[in-house]
Amino acid sequence: MKKINRRFFLILGASSTIATLIAQCGRENIQENKHFFSSYPQINQSKDGILELDLTANINQINLGNKQAYLLNYNGQIPGPRLEAKPGDTIRINFTNNLPQPTNIHYHGLHIPITGNADNIFLNIPSGDRFTYQFQIPENHPAGIFWYHPHLPGLVAEQLFGGLAGLFIVRGELDEIPEVKAASEQFLVLQDFALDQQGNMLRSEELSIMTGREGNLITANGQFKPNFAIPAQGLLRLRILNASTSRFYRLSLEEHPFYLIATDGGALAEPVEMSELLLTPGERADVLIQANREPGKYRLLNLPYERVGMGMMGRGMMERNIPENQPQVLATVSYDQQVAAVPLPKKLIPVPALPEAQKVRRFQMNHGMIPGQGMAFLFNGESYQPDRIDTQVQLNTLEDWELINTGMMDHPFHVHTNAFQVLSRDGKPERYRAWKDVVLVKSGETVLIRMPFRDFPGKTVYHCHILDHEDLGMMGNLEIIAGNREQGIGNS
Ligand code: C2O
Ligand code: CU
Repeated sequence: MKKINRRFFLILGASSTIATLIAQCGRENIQENKHFFSSYPQINQSKDGILELDLTANINQINLGNKQAYLLNYNGQIPGPRLEAKPGDTIRINFTNNLPQPTNIHYHGLHIPITGNADNIFLNIPSGDRFTYQFQIPENHPAGIFWYHPHLPGLVAEQLFGGLAGLFIVRGELDEIPEVKAASEQFLVLQDFALDQQGNMLRSEELSIMTGREGNLITANGQFKPNFAIPAQGLLRLRILNASTSRFYRLSLEEHPFYLIATDGGALAEPVEMSELLLTPGERADVLIQANREPGKYRLLNLPYERVGMGMMGRGMMERNIPENQPQVLATVSYDQQVAAVPLPKKLIPVPALPEAQKVRRFQMNHGMIPGQGMAFLFNGESYQPDRIDTQVQLNTLEDWELINTGMMDHPFHVHTNAFQVLSRDGKPERYRAWKDVVLVKSGETVLIRMPFRDFPGKTVYHCHILDHEDLGMMGNLEIIAGNREQGIGNS
């Protein structure tokens, strides 16, 4: 096993101070930031082909449900403003970093350039600096639920867990399907927090970093147990994001199935009925719900799920993450009139089968001890090194990636920029074809995905979306090369 590079560990060391900084800065800023209190989410929609906004990352006192908390936030709200654009639009985000440490922004799932001032996660925006992100949503970009969050190695978990995350919605074809358009649209951003009595974030040291930090305060759109009312004659379209750092959500709505119409990367070919929905960190699901039971209030539940194998570590380390063994209520869905079953759409958007891949690669996911430094999380036995290219692919090719989890914990695998299709899990073909950018690889499981690299050369990353695992090394650099370097230019 290679040694973890020193710089990487220095960043990690620095990260443990933020909870303290938050506590201090938070109190100083209470007075001047009163105007940041807002109970309504800010929505920024593109106009005449442009979406431009000021976005500021802050630390201050915020209203979280019925509690006052000192948290990280974008524009004074948790979750951050919901951004909405259409294919072809130009996006300009005038970003200010008012955090006491560096940060940057990743546009999770968007198929946009990875260089310059677009989805370039190698940018580092120091404390107090401003930076303008600018990019165009490609004309052929699928409609879907995407999102933005910080992405500086070593600080990702801490900053996301502090509250930094927001939706980025691309409107398009899927939204124009009549039944989908007629549905009442609601968003559900799931985040968890760990606060002390005074509303300060718990420090990293007090959380279970190895398994991935979780908080016992679960919020839905920054609220506790909100209600979604379905109007008469309506379907509910619930667009869900798991913006938690490590927590998995196994969702189920009492007496109602979900009809899944879109996943991470956009629409399915037709709705898929499911009685429950497992969403790992970073995953999104777009579901329709029919109001066809007795009028009333139904609970949206989070069912128990064990993502960490027991015999792995001493019991002591595990205690904070012992999974709740009771269902928890996340929200409610209500309607007060029985409605003649509103029809579901029959067809959505075709999801083409991908042609054969030119290359197969293997990624083994596990963890290991590094003498004197503790546990690291690894791809193929290596922990992340900023300057090493781990995977080099050619533009205009397709690849099959075999993701093999030989460890005792589940790992949600995420790749930037290009969506993929899951072909099989443990050799069993996937039930339906879908565009994904996060896929759960359970302990002991092998998942095969196929990914086209059609545009955007440059360097980006893949990683575990349990962001503590990513910060502790489970990440690789991916370079996408234009031109056929391996075989000589002009040889294709
Ligand atoms: Cu949402 Cu690299 O992550
Ligand atoms: Cu992981």
